[in-house]
Amino acid sequence: MTAKKLDEKTLELLKGQDILSAKALSDAQLQLIMDTAAHYEDALKEKRRLYDMDGKIVASLFFEPSTRTRLSFEAAVHRLGGEVITVSETPDIQTPSTAKGETIYDTMKVIDGYVDAIVVRSHLNGAAKEAAEAVEVPVINAGNGTGEHPSQALLDIYTILKEHGSIEGLKVALLGDLKYGRTVHSLVHFLKRYGCDLIFVAPPQLQMPAEITDELRAQGINVEETADLKAAVSRADVLYVTRIQKERFPDKEEFERVKDSYIVDDEIVASAKKGMSILHPLPRAKEIAVSVDSYPGAAYFRQAHNGVPIRMALLALTTGSVLM
Ligand code: NCD
Repeated sequence: MTAKKLDEKTLELLKGQDILSAKALSDAQLQLIMDTAAHYEDALKEKRRLYDMDGKIVASLFFEPSTRTRLSFEAAVHRLGGEVITVSETPDIQTPSTAKGETIYDTMKVIDGYVDAIVVRSHLNGAAKEAAEAVEVPVINAGNGTGEHPSQALLDIYTILKEHGSIEGLKVALLGDLKYGRTVHSLVHFLKRYGCDLIFVAPPQLQMPAEITDELRAQGINVEETADLKAAVSRADVLYVTRIQKERFPDKEEFERVKDSYIVDDEIVASAKKGMSILHPLPRAKEIAVSVDSYPGAAYFRQAHNGVPIRMALLALTTGSVLM
């Protein structure tokens, strides 16, 4: 991706905005995020010291376990010369205050006065929206239950653009837990804008929710649903693998039945279309064999690293801090 200089007016497109869902972003905002991320990626490669967020503070509120998302958001703030404050991670949506009975609304209202932006992850589908309604500063949804994960989907798009040059005309297969996986719920709403075909590969119980598939089809997107991974990879340009979301299953026996539905191994890679790239938001359980890591199209670690420039772009744009 080549970075280009952006004018002041374009840079204002996301100033003061929340990033809650993929659908809520316009095509122009999506393009702006890609261009700004390319600008920051260049700066990182050149090891330039940045001061775009000098004097700004971001609250990093993760009420659910996270490694990549949390660390790449926090690395992004540091790379931009800003500061991060946080509350200790707890297994529930509990800060020391909510444990004392304070509502999320009240907690957020207080934090609003301390910071310039808030990054929030919760197991509750409504938490990011509730936080955004309570505060004036921009809120970035870093994963809301089984709902969405827009910053992940943005780095996924950025990765496909980098690996393939363009997305138009590609066949993108999404594999695994399409029901509970929040990354794919956001990703399809970005992919559809680039004119690609979608193949949803999942056991019937874990297929993409009907309301999403119906909406995509109504918008004229070519969507195929199948359980046949081998047939899908023989035609796909991109294979996006997801983890079966154990923690989201109300019925643990159901999880046991589907947990090993698909494994991307050397045999699957051997039957893949030439040049197919493999993405995964990570963490992986067993769905991609370690031997696949040496395949040139295995892009998942490169993908994880793209999280930093994408999250730098999101934080700097929403807080109106980009210096070009
Ligand atoms: C994903 C998530 O939290 O939804 N992970 C991530 O943010 N990279 C995917 C997952 O947990 O399976």
